[in-house]
Amino acid sequence: MLQMLLHSLSLLCSLTTTTPPQAPADSGGVIIVIPPVSNDTGIKQIPDAAHPWVAPGPGDQRGPCPGLNTLANHGYLPHNGIVSFEQIVTAVGEGFNMEHDLASALAGFAMLARGNAYLDLVSIGGESPLIPVLPDEIDGPNPPGGLAKHGRFEGDVSMTRQDAAIGDNVNFQDSLYDELLLYTGQFGDDSPVTGNRSIVTTKVMQEFKYARFLEDQVRNKVLEYHVGRLSLSYGEAAFVLNFFANGTTGTLSQQTMGSFLRNQTFPDNWFRKSSPGNLTFIASSATEILLAHPVAAGANNANGSYILDAPLPVCSAPYYNLAVQNLPASLNNATGILARNVITLVQAIAKPFGCPPVAPAGPVGV
Ligand code: HEM
Repeated sequence: MLQMLLHSLSLLCSLTTTTPPQAPADSGGVIIVIPPVSNDTGIKQIPDAAHPWVAPGPGDQRGPCPGLNTLANHGYLPHNGIVSFEQIVTAVGEGFNMEHDLASALAGFAMLARGNAYLDLVSIGGESPLIPVLPDEIDGPNPPGGLAKHGRFEGDVSMTRQDAAIGDNVNFQDSLYDELLLYTGQFGDDSPVTGNRSIVTTKVMQEFKYARFLEDQVRNKVLEYHVGRLSLSYGEAAFVLNFFANGTTGTLSQQTMGSFLRNQTFPDNWFRKSSPGNLTFIASSATEILLAHPVAAGANNANGSYILDAPLPVCSAPYYNLAVQNLPASLNNATGILARNVITLVQAIAKPFGCPPVAPAGPVGV
């Protein structure tokens, strides 16, 4: 049913004006509504007095995303790390000035890949007793794994987390961060305020990201770096440079980077980006990082050789790989509120790519 709906939506409707069809009332589900675009998008000091840092407690979920972890530690997201689509979009806009459509695409992908889109809940960490299995076990018999679960979203060649096959893919790793500091010490810019070689630049990321790929290509026998993951991983390097930078100067000091990556807290005297950062802006920064040492999408074979992927002849290869090939095809069998939410989220993911929404076609229960 969803396949047909999405097909006709993509042919007949503009993404921005489409209203998902009304679902029959079914009890317990939560209808997901994309929040309005905020007018409050200028520079501003973060956190405000209402959002002090509070350490996560034993039951609180934290995961592989330093941006979401920081927002939860400061109460911009629920402190327990169990969050809704709307809460993510609002919090990343408020805390980091991430633009609305980019935020909606990431939050939509998170919800469909690793959350419960019927209840509008996803864990920013691992599996949680607060998030039950989807209706009719539509994505298999297990509860959603949260953003910490490897595959679909969390993937290989992260900056401060190991690949799942060789170590801890969820928590901050000192040894990897030390590498990033070494590259900063070698390629960073000088600052009279924070010190020589203390400014983290594009050049730092160009060298560090390439080194991380070379390391993992050798160490991780089952490395997967398909075009969706490759794009996300260079995008995340661009997030560090652009969303963690102090909005007052637009530059990122090593000290500020450490506050976010290691301590998962906003630094003192920190201002968010002065204008919203959208997909075009982040993609351009990510491309600049990648092009210094181009790496093509692929995966290791059984002999540890890196085999390149065939190009995908589609509207946008990263969009297609993530939203079509990585999301479970069984979502097409959804009914009622879940079907309605799936349509809303699939449209939200496609929007910033300028692509027609395409129905999920990936493996179920993985
Ligand atoms: C909008 C919703 C967001 C979602 C759903 C999300 C989700 C994720 C996930 C699942 C990962 C793990 C990927 C991996 O395997 O490396 C990740 C990594 C990352 N995220 Fe987010 N994220 C979001 C927003 C943000 C924001 C606003 C920032 C920065 C301000 C950010 C910064 C990062 C960074 C730097 C990494 C890479 C960490 C590393 O490689 O060690 N994210 N995110």
